[in-house]
Amino acid sequence: MQLLKIAILASGRGSNAKAILESIKTGALHAEGVVLLSDNPEAEALLMAQDYGVPAILVNRKAHPSREAYEAALLTELNHFDYNVVCLAGYMRVLGEGFLLGVKAPVLNIHPSLLPSFPGLHAQRQALDYGVKVAGCTVHLVDAGLDSGPILLQRAVPVLDDDTEATLSARILKEEHQLYTEALQRFQAGITIQGRTVKASAKE
Ligand code: GAR
Repeated sequence: MQLLKIAILASGRGSNAKAILESIKTGALHAEGVVLLSDNPEAEALLMAQDYGVPAILVNRKAHPSREAYEAALLTELNHFDYNVVCLAGYMRVLGEGFLLGVKAPVLNIHPSLLPSFPGLHAQRQALDYGVKVAGCTVHLVDAGLDSGPILLQRAVPVLDDDTEATLSARILKEEHQLYTEALQRFQAGITIQGRTVKASAKE
């Protein structure tokens, strides 16, 4: 099986990024973390990656006058590395078409809802406000829309009567940490995309 060379983009705490790097460390994933890039100088993910021996690079969004200029700088840094998949792990910006055309590998994202419900920010709060009884998380391929690309894997999580945004988010996050590794294993084993549908590639 081909070694996954994973580039990670993260904006904040970095617990999903950490879960991926931990799966590599334990051998659950036959992969290598090649770089972690962040748009945010305060991102805890930057320090966390260094603890795993992964190069951590800040491309500060605020240091660039436009989204296009920022994404061009991000792409330049990314393309210094040899990667065959990009994982958005709590990366809180929508990637523009310029970036998606220039990136040399598929881009995956994890989102804390059962897409297509509740894309965008505060997905867990949106789910509570709507009153759904089942929430969850999704790993999907990234396209130019908002959390709209083909779905790789999903996991459902119950919503309890006394849930707050914090308790529901914590229950979903626990599942996210497992789901990203499972999605990467599935990706590595080979996938076929037909329209919106992602399936395991047929074995030869
Ligand atoms: C996670 O819940 C992730 O799914 C979500 O932000 C959190 C980041 O946590 N991402 C999005 O909402 C993207 N639309 P982390 O920094 O600890 O991984």
